[in-house]
Amino acid sequence: MAVVSFMLVLAFLILSIASPSNGGITSSYVRKTAASVDLPFDSLTSPPGYNAPEQVHITQGDHVGRGVIVSWVTPLEPGSKFVTYWKVGDDEHKKQAHASTNTYKFANYTSGFIHHATIKNLEYNTKYIYEVGNNNATRRFFFTTPPEVGPDVPYTFGVIGDLGQTYDSKQTLEHYNSNPKGQAVLFVGDLSYADHYPLHDNRRWDSWARLVEKNAAYQPWIWAAGNHEIDFLPENGETVPFKPFKHRYHVPYKASQSTSPLWYSVKRASAHIIVLSSYSAYGKYTPQYNWLETEFTKVNRSETPWLIVLLHSPWYNSDNYHFMEGESMRVMFEPWFVQNKVDIVFSGHVHAYERSERISNIAYKVSNGQCTPVLDPSAPVYITIGDGGNIEGLANNFTDPQPSYSAFREASFGHALLELKNRTHAYYSWHRNQDSERVVGDSLWFYNRHWYPQKESSDAATMA
Ligand SMILES: [Fe+2]
Repeated sequence: MAVVSFMLVLAFLILSIASPSNGGITSSYVRKTAASVDLPFDSLTSPPGYNAPEQVHITQGDHVGRGVIVSWVTPLEPGSKFVTYWKVGDDEHKKQAHASTNTYKFANYTSGFIHHATIKNLEYNTKYIYEVGNNNATRRFFFTTPPEVGPDVPYTFGVIGDLGQTYDSKQTLEHYNSNPKGQAVLFVGDLSYADHYPLHDNRRWDSWARLVEKNAAYQPWIWAAGNHEIDFLPENGETVPFKPFKHRYHVPYKASQSTSPLWYSVKRASAHIIVLSSYSAYGKYTPQYNWLETEFTKVNRSETPWLIVLLHSPWYNSDNYHFMEGESMRVMFEPWFVQNKVDIVFSGHVHAYERSERISNIAYKVSNGQCTPVLDPSAPVYITIGDGGNIEGLANNFTDPQPSYSAFREASFGHALLELKNRTHAYYSWHRNQDSERVVGDSLWFYNRHWYPQKESSDAATMA
């Protein structure tokens, strides 16, 4: 009897691991169901030493990867406004870059001294050491510049979204750190979740930056802004959106002729990466609309075959959380994405993982009623990766049945890797936190839309 019961339970478990439905696969992997809890503030401490630089992070500092913006905070006084850097093995030739320094107030909070230094004209594919601080409180880090931009240059990006600062966030970060392949992070918005606290307690922006330093000081994070960066609190006098984010996270937006750090582009290895803002105006004639229209004309697939877009609020997802919130931006921009054969769109916002088929929904006119997504080989794959582990917990409420545009979905925390191999192929994998890094929760060989626009095959069911 016990054996029969065991067999029945086993059969149930096997059937419930992945259940194909109307569309692709909805994985019912046994995931964490307990609420996410923020790490205690006191556990995210400042480094030792008087006025020691903290919250160190880097991002790309120009359009092609020869620049790095180094950012750090000194808590008590401005301290040294220079970053010193040198090539590994060449400490005879140390150089310095000067930082701009600012502070800001938010409600009853006053920030430390926030420094941003742009290092320019670095050599490609070279490891540099850099140092910030002075006296007894200098801290040393390193980074490696990317190879020169070119069509067959391999490069591996990590992809993380909606990270926050919980025990789960820490696990996501450590999980990503444990993979030696990642060279830079594509971050799809929602950083600290400081706005979860009364008066958006901006000390939680500080603690978040201390948490991510162990990766973000060594690899550039390419930033996109999410709704938790808006920090709009008019009842407490905070009427300028994105104030903490813009003070703390500088990006090289002017290098792509953008007028705002919230939308811009960079080229890195074989990728042209466009960052958009879901929470800035994007209607016709707005600065973001005009910029994107021009930006697409600058993309050269012979130089950068891979065209990747980061934006926070997904255009296609099938979770009941935030469903359709990206719709108005989709209506404005989707025809351009199909016309320009964008390879992949990474989004966050929904705290689950989902990958779409290549689909578009651009036939609709107000009178024709054609409002169903269709398979389209010129369309991007849409990946929702807002599963970094923040305090709001998992979005574990998918629409049922799974729509045909959804290839794979699972409500687990994790991160992804995108390994660009050459101009035609890229290997993509998603890694859930509960597994070791070797285990792949979802994967796909991407075929480049410009150079090799063949149909990719995944294990997901094909559309009906
Ligand atoms: Fe969000």
